[in-house]
This record gives sequence, structure tokens and C-alpha cells, in this order.
Amino acid sequence: MKLVSCLLFTLVLHAAISQEASESDTYMECTEGYHWDPHTQHCKDVNECETIPDACKGEMKCFNHYGGYLCLPRSASVVSSNEVMGVDFQGPSSRTESETYNPCPHGYEPGLHDTCVDVDECEQDLHDCQPSQQCINTAGSFTCRCPDGYRKIGTECVDIDECRYRYCQHRCVNSPGSFSCQCEPGFQLAGNNRSCVDVNECDMGAPCQQRCYNTYGTFICRCDQGYELGQDGFACNDIDECSYSSYLCQHQCVNEPGRFICTCPEGYQLLGTRQCQDINECETNAHQCPESQTCVNIHGGYQCVDTNRCQEPYVQVSDNRCVCPVVKPECRELPFSIVHRYMSITSDRPVPSDIFQIQATSVYPGAYNTFRIRSGDEHGEFYIRQINNISAMLVLARPVTGPKEYVLDLEMVSVNPLMSYQTSSALRLTVYVGPHAF
Ligand SMILES: *[C@@H]1O[C@H](CO)[C@@H](O)[C@H](O)[C@H]1NC(C)=O
Ligand SMILES: *[C@@H]1O[C@H](CO)[C@@H](O)[C@H](O)[C@H]1NC(C)=O
Repeated sequence: MKLVSCLLFTLVLHAAISQEASESDTYMECTEGYHWDPHTQHCKDVNECETIPDACKGEMKCFNHYGGYLCLPRSASVVSSNEVMGVDFQGPSSRTESETYNPCPHGYEPGLHDTCVDVDECEQDLHDCQPSQQCINTAGSFTCRCPDGYRKIGTECVDIDECRYRYCQHRCVNSPGSFSCQCEPGFQLAGNNRSCVDVNECDMGAPCQQRCYNTYGTFICRCDQGYELGQDGFACNDIDECSYSSYLCQHQCVNEPGRFICTCPEGYQLLGTRQCQDINECETNAHQCPESQTCVNIHGGYQCVDTNRCQEPYVQVSDNRCVCPVVKPECRELPFSIVHRYMSITSDRPVPSDIFQIQATSVYPGAYNTFRIRSGDEHGEFYIRQINNISAMLVLARPVTGPKEYVLDLEMVSVNPLMSYQTSSALRLTVYVGPHAF
């Protein structure tokens, strides 16, 4: 309501005279300006503007008032101002319970010591704001306002859809009177509550089993060498390298978490990572040959052989040479001398393959020498290839798989045609075939 500070009215006040509370229900006299209404049993204001002809003179307009009437200029409106606070008035008649006289301007009510105080229309529910509106009390009046986030359309307050204005970087959720921003998974709301910033899931306990890499909006898991990422993208499963190839290890592949190792059979040691090398037990003193025996290293182990290996009728003449004395009759059919040699070969050698070269150490001048396998090759696994007059090669003719042991007597027969002289000597070669191809 508009406040008009300048008052333009003449006050003709037929004031109701203050009375004490009625002593009796049947009291039927009213003060001047009121008449008794038997229907309501109350004193009722007389509308002087209707009952008094020409109540106001000239251009003045009659305004009925409780217990009297006002003559105001026709242009006057009912106003209030501090200037009227000094208006002397009597309290409203106690007989007019439903209608009291208020000498204060509209929006004010009598306070203490003849003052007028602002009426809080919002508090006293005297406003006409819509339920959707907020009532704001003002001096002498009130206003109706829409709450924040609402806009007035007609008389109603309507929620503003802030989401239409793209306030949010990712997603906007409108709510009555407000809105909120939300971020896509992998992002979180920034301090301004509108932008979205990447979440470093790796720092926030991402479920990667081994390695975590943060990326924009998400993260990826990676695995250490020897592992592969599981179906779920988080777990790391050991790769069974051994199942990929049978050639990873020379002997045996053993899968371990994240890697594989090669193992070697007994008597071998790992050479590098995948190859097996025979251990020379004779050199490392890992053998248990007694004093009377000599250690012979073979593939995957060792053999103890008698140091004195000359058997009757042979007699030992040097470390590994036995001689059959010609004085003994049985020696006529036997090679004059036997030399012992030992060798070891691996299983499954490709054939044919040269395995041992025989070299005559002492030859008779003018003699013609031939070489042959005298014994020990019952199944024809070997043969001899003569190289020249004084040397020959022992050849493996058939594949052999160990462990196996051959004792071959390789004989060199010397013939001197001019002197009609024949003699022979033998090489007793023990061939050990190891259990493996290495
Ligand atoms: C963001 O929202 C939070 C929680 O509602 C609030 O405490 C904070 O003041 C807001 N920040 C800004 C910049 O609006
Ligand atoms: C065989 O070799 C020996 C020694 O070198 C030699 O004396 C002899 O004449 C050779 N015999 C033949 C048939 O070549």
C-alpha cells in the first residue's frame, strides 16, 4: 500500500465515549453514534453518512466511522503517517467486540503511549499472498515475493528450471527452487559445484590387483610380466609359460607365479636358464669311488672302474695296458695287448655319427693294419670305418637310448706280408649311453 505523507482531510470525530465493561447483559443503552441491536445483543455503529442528511458539506465526502463519521475531500484516500500518531482517541467501546476503532493509518495499530505500530501482516495472517509466495512484512504493509529459484508467472510462483541454462558441466538435476550438478562416473564435483574433475581412482583404492593407471574419467589395470589381465579387467592371472612351448627348457619347465624356471635331472646343473649341463662328479669330488677304483664321469652320473683291470691271462704292464704273455698258450688266440678306454654318449644321437677315433700308437714297419670290432656289438649298433693304415673311426650306426653300457673290443690286426708275421692289439672301449639326449 502506498504511503502518503501529506494528509488532506478534516477530521470530524463524534467519538464514542469510553465505557467500562457492561454490568449487565440487558443493558440496552449505547453511546452516541451507536444503537442497540436486539438481534445481536450488541451496540452497533450508526452509519451517519446514511442517517444524517448532508452530513458533510460542500465537496467533502462522508466516511462512516465507528461511533461517528469523517468528512474527507473526495480526492482523499485513507492514509497513514506519523503525523497522525498524535491523534487523540479513546479506546474502542468494550461493547463493540467485533468492531474496534483504529485511529492509526492502515497497516498500523495502536501501541503503547498513544503510538501506532506496524502490523506484521505476515505473522498475523492478514496477507493475501499465494501459498507459493513468501510474505515479506514492510512498514505499514507487506509484499508477496517468490522464493529464490522461483519466478512469478501470473499470481503463482513457478520453479525456475535452472538446468535449461546449462549451469552444470555434466548433468543437472532440477529440484523445486534449486538445482544440483552431478558428474559422470569417474568424475567428481569441483569446488564450484558445477564443473566436474577427474577422479584418480588409483589413489582411491581402485581394484587393480597389480598396476593401476589413471586415465581421464576412468582407470585401467595392468599386470606385471608373467601375468595376464583377467576377464574382469582387475585381476592378474599367472601365465603358464610352460604350456606355451615344450622347447622353453631343455629338460623340464616349472611354472611359478609370474615366471617359469627350468629344472635339470639329477647329475645335471642348469647352464644359463634353460640348458642342462652334466656335472663332472669326478672333478667335483662328489663321487664315492673307493681308493682301488677310478672315477669315470658319464652323462648324468659317474662310474667307478677297477684301477687294476687286467684279467687273466693278461697282466698289467702300465696304468691301463694289459699284455697277454706269449709264453701262455691261451694267449695265442688273443690280442697281445689290451688298452682300456671309457667314453660316454647321450641318448638318441642322430645316426650315423662318428663317436671314437682309433689311432695306432705303435706300428711295425712295413705292416699293414686293419681294424675291426672283435666283440661287444651283438646287435650291430656300431661299425668301423677305416681312415688309413693307422687310424679308424668307430661309428654309431643305430639310434640308442640309455641308460645303456657297451663294452667293445676294437682290434687292430697288423700284417707284414713280407715277414709272414701277424699280430693284434685291442682297445677295450666302454661306451656309456646316458639317460638323456643332453
Ligand atoms: C557446494 O556445495 C556444498 C554442499 O552443498 C556447499 O557447502 C558449498 O558451499 C558449495 N560451494 C559453492 C562454491 O557453491
Ligand atoms: C702302414 O704304415 C706303416 C707306418 O707308417 C708303414 O711302415 C707301412 O708301410 C704302411 N703299410 C702300407 C701297406 O701302407
